[in-house]
Amino acid sequence: MNIATIESYYSARATEYDRVYLKPERQSDLREIERWLPTVFKGSSMIEIACGTGYWTQFLEPVVCELVAIDTSPETLAIASTRISASHVQFMIGDAYRPAVSPGHFSAAFAGFWLSHVPRENLGLFLNTLHQALLPGARVVFLDNRYVEGSSTPISEQDAWGNTYQIRRLEDGTAHRILKNFFTEQELRSAVSFSAIQFEFHTWQHFWAFEYVLF
Ligand SMILES: C[S@@+](CC[C@H](N)C(=O)[O-])C[C@H]1O[C@@H](n2cnc3c(N)ncnc32)[C@H](O)[C@@H]1O
Repeated sequence: MNIATIESYYSARATEYDRVYLKPERQSDLREIERWLPTVFKGSSMIEIACGTGYWTQFLEPVVCELVAIDTSPETLAIASTRISASHVQFMIGDAYRPAVSPGHFSAAFAGFWLSHVPRENLGLFLNTLHQALLPGARVVFLDNRYVEGSSTPISEQDAWGNTYQIRRLEDGTAHRILKNFFTEQELRSAVSFSAIQFEFHTWQHFWAFEYVLF
């Protein structure tokens, strides 16, 4: 078993990552989200956290004015750069907990399937750091998985903080213990209640999206 960091796991998974978007039972949800997500961000100057292979970037790029997409993995960013080449999109190696961006610059933020990899004890730190990069009135959306029996990888353990873990296998046969949290709507609302308004929690069969506007 590999107790790899989340960063090295996704670098190793980069070339096989997009297969997660081919799961048959998730197709109808994905088509709905692909239609909905760009409508939220028209005309925005956006930071995308943990953009991975750029799957969601490709739907956001046509509607935003500026998009800075960061990820720690050069391997996933290389795939994203092949997928999207637009002059208003910049892919950067960057850490979600320390993004090298100007404070108060962006009018929007998006992160797909990233929040579930944030340890519970670091959620406040991540959100505060993100909010510092945003303008007042900025719109934020986090998109992530609901736990669906038979489709989601089972939870293998829980630690003292309440963080949950999965054992995931890559094509080369290696097994990885990966932190994957399934935050509830209430937990998310509490986490941003002092900094945001206009909360909306959208759900599909396999996914949720938490949307809010910063004070
Ligand atoms: C589940 S993938 C999501 C990728 C993409 N957002 C998507 O929805 O398809 C999580 C991503 O987080 C990246 N990552 C891991 N640790 C990170 C960190 N500290 N800062 C930024 N990105 C990170 C990984 O390289 C990986 O691309």
